[in-house]
Amino acid sequence: MSPANIACFNGALMPLEEISISPLDRGFVFGDGVYEVIPVYNGVMLRAREHFERLQRSMDEIRLANPYSVDEWIALAGRLLAHHPGNQSVYLQVTRGVPPKRDHVMPKGLKPTVFMMCQPLPSPSREQVDNGVACITANDFRWEKCNIKSISLLGNVIARQMAADADATECVMFRDGFLTEASASNVFAVKGSTVLAPPMDNLILLGITYQLLLDLARDGDVKLEVRKVSEAEVRAADELWLTSSTKEVLAITTLDGKPVGSGKPGPLFRRMHALYQDYKARIGRAAEVAA
Ligand SMILES: Cc1ncc(COP(=O)(O)O)c(C=O)c1O
Repeated sequence: MSPANIACFNGALMPLEEISISPLDRGFVFGDGVYEVIPVYNGVMLRAREHFERLQRSMDEIRLANPYSVDEWIALAGRLLAHHPGNQSVYLQVTRGVPPKRDHVMPKGLKPTVFMMCQPLPSPSREQVDNGVACITANDFRWEKCNIKSISLLGNVIARQMAADADATECVMFRDGFLTEASASNVFAVKGSTVLAPPMDNLILLGITYQLLLDLARDGDVKLEVRKVSEAEVRAADELWLTSSTKEVLAITTLDGKPVGSGKPGPLFRRMHALYQDYKARIGRAAEVAA
């Protein structure tokens, strides 16, 4: 028998198969909840505090009281990670809980439902890093609160499926002629020696990896501008990148079947990728020093 896959439900650790949730849970009925995905290297969460602070912002936006402080969340995730060594992604979601009946209005005084689990986190493949990935584009047909990390992901799911149908990794989206993000990643463009990042507004989910890239670019003296990036600039870009907790940073080498720049991952991608790998390695080493 394989060892039980230990997950966390309302603060208690238990085998995943033993967790059951009411069909009246507002997460199930309305998609009324928020979530986080945290990458873990050698047992250490990457920017845990920033992930739980973003969770707090998502909860504030949907008027859901947080059952835990950032420190309590970090401790809870740590208890779960003790059962899952190595490189993992922690997935957690908080829903508004189980009301007595279905009604759109947010009921007062419900106990939120908290679920957390781990999955092994493979690094992007050598092939993806060396050759880059294909993406398609679409108009951003999602809502105007993309800054909330909502479990209601239907728009993102449809966009991701459009990419999968085209054998592409991601669907890059434009709203009113400007770049927003991709279905489960942020997007950066490179023009000459300058990296362009779309604004940190309500039209994108502000990625923890996006913010990490900004820090790495600043420390590495890479020129970076945060501003609106037009669709024309994206289509004429020398380089395009995807970032997310699970994709790290990947070069987009074809967009709608046309080569991006030289059609190979560019020099600024290789620099940022190296800085990212160095950052990851430092996290892993921190675990060894602490052990
Ligand atoms: C829509 C969307 N944008 C951006 C990101 C990147 O966020 P992070 O870097 O925190 O993983 C994600 C991650 O899943 C996402 O779903």
